[in-house]
Amino acid sequence: MKQLMKLFKLVMFEKRRLAISLVCTLLVALFTLGFVNLIQPIIDYMMSPSDVSENAQFTIFVMKAFNITRDQLVQYLPWILVGVVFGKGLFTFLSSFFMQSIGIRVVRRMRDDLFRSLINQSADYFDRRSTGELMSRLTSDVDRIQDALSGSAKDFIQEAFVLLALIITVFVIDWKLALATMIITPLAVILIAVFSRQLKRIGKQNQIKVANIFSLLHETITGSKIVKAFTMEEFEIKKFMEATRNLYRTAIKLAWIGSLSSPFMEFLGGLLGAFILLVGSQRIAAGHITSGEFGTFLFAILSMYMPIRKISRANNTLQHGVACLERVEEVMLSRPTIVDKPEAPALPPVKGHVVFEDVTFSYDSSRPVLRNISFTVLPTEKIALVGLSGSGKTTIINLLSRFYESTSGRIKIDDRDIRDVRLSSLRSQIGLVTQELILFNDTVRNNIAYGLADTPDEEVIRAAKTAEAHGFISALPQGYDTKIGEKGGLLSSGQKQRLSIARALLKDPPILILDEATSALDAESEQQIQIALANVMKDRTTIVIAHRLSTIRNADRIFVIDKGTIAEIGTHEELVQQNGIYRKLSDLQFPEKKEGSP
Ligand SMILES: Nc1ncnc2c1ncn2[C@@H]1O[C@H](COP(=O)(O)OP(=O)(O)OP(=O)(O)O)[C@@H](O)[C@H]1O
Ligand SMILES: [Mg+2]
Repeated sequence: MKQLMKLFKLVMFEKRRLAISLVCTLLVALFTLGFVNLIQPIIDYMMSPSDVSENAQFTIFVMKAFNITRDQLVQYLPWILVGVVFGKGLFTFLSSFFMQSIGIRVVRRMRDDLFRSLINQSADYFDRRSTGELMSRLTSDVDRIQDALSGSAKDFIQEAFVLLALIITVFVIDWKLALATMIITPLAVILIAVFSRQLKRIGKQNQIKVANIFSLLHETITGSKIVKAFTMEEFEIKKFMEATRNLYRTAIKLAWIGSLSSPFMEFLGGLLGAFILLVGSQRIAAGHITSGEFGTFLFAILSMYMPIRKISRANNTLQHGVACLERVEEVMLSRPTIVDKPEAPALPPVKGHVVFEDVTFSYDSSRPVLRNISFTVLPTEKIALVGLSGSGKTTIINLLSRFYESTSGRIKIDDRDIRDVRLSSLRSQIGLVTQELILFNDTVRNNIAYGLADTPDEEVIRAAKTAEAHGFISALPQGYDTKIGEKGGLLSSGQKQRLSIARALLKDPPILILDEATSALDAESEQQIQIALANVMKDRTTIVIAHRLSTIRNADRIFVIDKGTIAEIGTHEELVQQNGIYRKLSDLQFPEKKEGSP
């Protein structure tokens, strides 16, 4: 019930459309009522033209309103019927259209809100969830909600009106017979409740399984090359078939219960009909009602079948929609873990003085990934981070960009704690080339000028030249206007790296971070970039992470990271002398230069 209220609240955003739709729905119900009440004069008149019961309120109303006799009414009946059918059709159309438009509008807003909420989540949120699953929230879950809002909410309300009108009709004709008939109702209500609870439960399971398939699909499509390289096609097919089998099970259950509900209702209806015939024939014999009235009564009761069926079906869709709303809300209501403090000031343009003070951090609050890290980087200094894979290098720069927040300790830039300034102002001053290259399915130019759309072409080209990317870009079919495919799939790894470097450079940030930014380049390109970068690095603080030590020999200082701590600090020469971890790495990479070893 609480959840249904939530759906209802969503609809209330569209008050005007809702009002129009409801008025039209009411008119549909009235026309249906008129339709039912117009049947009686025919039957009565045809059965015995002399005995005219004046029981049908609506017929009397129509006769008085137009000042006509019953004979005339029977004459006009075909035309009235046409009018009623037309009116019903027109208002059915209007109410349906406006109701659907409510669903479409609500869902459009919901999708936008959902996307905003999703894109604003912190990095840890995405670590814990699969892409496909998140995608299914924005696609199929939202679709189910639209179904619930567009079709079902309308059906629910409209058919409830119709049902109410029909119930009034039967009570007016013969309240005793009506009352007797209604006794069977509670049974149906209980059964419907049982059905809908089951449906909701299974509906939720079903969505989870759909999301599962989404995430499998996403993974295998993006990883199709690896799948092939390891000839894991059969394995992936089996995994996928397992997922579809899981979905199949709940879908069948859903179909089972869904299909059962309407024949069951029909069966109940049949029982009801038999009951009415039994009681009704006695009441006609006893002279309580005319045969015409009984005809109308029966017709009205039978007309209830459709609205009841629609209501129960609408209820199913609503329950399904409610289950999806819960999943959508899970995204909508989760707050990003890393947010600006209230009224946090912007970080003014910095010189690039970076300080880590006793920083400890763990991703999952169990095993610390960084332990008591302290260091200072002076403005315009060039720092290199080296260390074994998994030692925590990327984590250090993740903390500096405040993608994650340190568990304890402080990080300061130009003497400002980065937690006390606005996130956007912090990140706008950091140029970042991530280890995992992120490019968008857009033109080369827009990828370089990401977030800087108004940049003149000359500057884009200058950045590309510095990153040694201009050459290969010019050779592309449409140069800077070439679309580079999803994740830059149409480029080589080295080209992607150079594009990412150009993007970071165009930002002209006081702090530049390159995480394995030149790892995919050949020795010559790398050397060229080194020379070019040496120029741009001159007036900014730079942190370079590299496995290839040749890349970082010119760094002012090298930090050797080992198991989450800083093990050694010094220049290349100093560290080689120290005979520690760096020395070992160096010996492995430059075996011919071992002469300095003891
Ligand atoms: N998002 C994450 N969630 C949980 N643990 C993580 C996450 N990212 C990294 N880790 C863990 O933190 C540790 C340090 O990872 P990090 O990425 O900083 O290593 P790295 O030094 O950059 O390694 P590489 O040279 O391979 O890039 C690793 O043990 C890794 O398992
Ligand atoms: Mg890394």
